Amino acid sequence: MEYNEALQKVREYGQEHVLEYFSQLSEDEQKSLLQQIEQTDFSVLAKAAEGDKELKRGVITPIPAMKLSEIEEKKAEFTEEGLKLLRAGKVGAVLLAGGMGTRLGSDDPKGMYNIGLTKDVFIFERLIRNLLDVVEQIGCYIHLFVMTSEKNHEKTVAFLKEKKFFGYDENYVTFFMQDMAPASDYTGKVYMETKALMSASPNGNGGWFSSMKRGGVLDIVHKAGIAYLNIFAVDNVLQRIAEPCFVGATALNGCAVGAKVIKKAAPDEKVGVMCLEDGRPSIVEYYELTTELMEAKDASGEPAYNYGVILNYLFRVKDLEEIVSKEMPLHIVEKKIPYLNEAGETVKPEKPNGYKYESLVLDMIHMLDSCLVFEVVREKEFAPIKNPTGVDSVESARALLQKNGVVL
Ligand code: UTP
Repeated sequence: MEYNEALQKVREYGQEHVLEYFSQLSEDEQKSLLQQIEQTDFSVLAKAAEGDKELKRGVITPIPAMKLSEIEEKKAEFTEEGLKLLRAGKVGAVLLAGGMGTRLGSDDPKGMYNIGLTKDVFIFERLIRNLLDVVEQIGCYIHLFVMTSEKNHEKTVAFLKEKKFFGYDENYVTFFMQDMAPASDYTGKVYMETKALMSASPNGNGGWFSSMKRGGVLDIVHKAGIAYLNIFAVDNVLQRIAEPCFVGATALNGCAVGAKVIKKAAPDEKVGVMCLEDGRPSIVEYYELTTELMEAKDASGEPAYNYGVILNYLFRVKDLEEIVSKEMPLHIVEKKIPYLNEAGETVKPEKPNGYKYESLVLDMIHMLDSCLVFEVVREKEFAPIKNPTGVDSVESARALLQKNGVVL
């Protein structure tokens, strides 16, 4: 993008200050700032006026889940259908690895974290190993799409190349970068991190499909004839990916999406739960779950909102294409954002000083007509690594991996 175009764009959104130091920058810095302006969606900043209040929700009612006993009964039928689709190349896998992993506190991408005790065991390695289990079962590779962000792309690609993709065929791995969203003060004015760089962060995991489309990756999906995409988070080292029974169950039930869920460990466990919202599939976040909803019971006396999502969904591509141009809800989160002070120095604030803007994958579910809520065994498929110690941590995930026979 040329300077004049950039100026026009920032002016349109009242953000001319991002070019204040332009004449003082080196040629390379100028180029990179212009590129950043080109790639930034400033329209989100208008939402700053709304603040970080919770988004308005519709009427929440329970959604039936397909429980373990029912899945066990139909396992052979589901698995046969899943294997057929997988062998026909109809299923791709999408690893969401664009997050910042702030809670884990490592400077490297989360997938590079070594959770081994007696040998190296990287998070990426565990996930690829899990996918390779299916590859070995079906006798052919599955396309693996890896979403990174500007903040971790180079390191992620270099690491996986160095490790020879942990045995995965490189020809079946495609990287794409998610979009960035600017960070602003409370009035919606973008912060500058340095004179040449706007404060920006990955725009949340909800933009994965539009980023795939924008990055031209959807062409590979079409060319390969992929009809389903199994998206999964980088931090759950136990999850099964593109697992035949889940694929077959979602397909045979004719659902737009399948969501893997676990039975909650306690009514107040911090996981989002599946529900219906105004009659459509949806997810209520744990902090939105009122006491009334927490205590509600279904016809059989079980808690009515008892199934938590683990960020492992199988989407039907044709339905994603229908919703991709629709506007997604924007989540405004108060954060500490590094900024440039009047002396032109970068300051790392001690307290929150503004907003980041994110869209979340869970909001995509509500945009679709039907969802298969598919229970999986918690101890076998849920070991998220969010923190170094304590709940959902390296420690707890190690214990669960060992319980499942993984040598660390
Ligand atoms: P989390 O919400 O746990 O965020 O992401 P995070 O960035 O990994 O960790 P914290 O909150 O900073 O500690 C859930 C999944 O969504 C992906 C993450 O990589 C992870 O797989 N994600 C999140 C993205 O791909 N992009 C984003 O912008 C945010």
